[in-house]
Amino acid sequence: MGSQSKSARKTIIAGNWKMNKTVAEAASLAKSIVEGIAAEMKDEAASQSLPVVVLCPTFICLSEVLKQVKGSPCQVGAQTMDYRDSGAFTGEISAPMLKDLAVDYVLIGHSERRQFFGETSESVNLKVKAALAQGLVPVMCVGELLEQREKGETDAVVREQVVVGLKDVASADVARVVVAYEPVWAIGTGKNCEAPEANRVCGLIRNTISELYSKDGAGLGEGVSILYGGSVKASTIDEQMQQEHIDGALVGGASLKAEDFLPLIKGGARRVKGLAHIS
Ligand code: PGA
Repeated sequence: MGSQSKSARKTIIAGNWKMNKTVAEAASLAKSIVEGIAAEMKDEAASQSLPVVVLCPTFICLSEVLKQVKGSPCQVGAQTMDYRDSGAFTGEISAPMLKDLAVDYVLIGHSERRQFFGETSESVNLKVKAALAQGLVPVMCVGELLEQREKGETDAVVREQVVVGLKDVASADVARVVVAYEPVWAIGTGKNCEAPEANRVCGLIRNTISELYSKDGAGLGEGVSILYGGSVKASTIDEQMQQEHIDGALVGGASLKAEDFLPLIKGGARRVKGLAHIS
């Protein structure tokens, strides 16, 4: 099952722009990324070995970034959403609103949302289901804090986040979920988790998903794309993309400039090409 299912999974390079960029700056970054792909990755585009590229700007920049990427290989994602469809929830944005804009992806439960905005595995679960109900691809973020890693709690924490996050998600829908493993201590710190260890935790996530859905079929976790995030940069991408269980990257800091992000897209393309050889 190993390599074949690995090659069936989508390779995704996603940029999380966080609370950065004005509308004009976001438009210009999206334009540079689209132009950079067209100029520097013609061969990859021709051989269909580009990864899925997802740009996640702030809500107010979504429309402009959607305009800029139209007709390009890039897709657009939001950074969070509310799980309710509409109503008196001042400041919130819902899944149907994102769908209406033609957004395809949405980050759910990023560690900064958990840390600063009170999100829990339970609220993440409500959001994952609401995103799926609208046909959005939820990128469910999980990962342990430094003190949890130091106490040897990494596996238990990540398992809990996956099990609760996917509660009552139908087996027919689980392959549409993308999971991002982002150890919190590696986000924005320059310290990335060594690739073999990141791979081990991504493998644990995959097995957890297969176990959760074992009554619905063998190895459903094999179909789920799992990304690594945390200080991903040009010098780390190849080792990360060579791992068995890492299907892509969720990138913060290095997604804010086209010259930093384009090499990561190329790294994703090298993974896609490598997989073509084993399928
Ligand atoms: P970083 O952020 O690449 O700046 O570490 C990753 C993320 O928060 O998704």
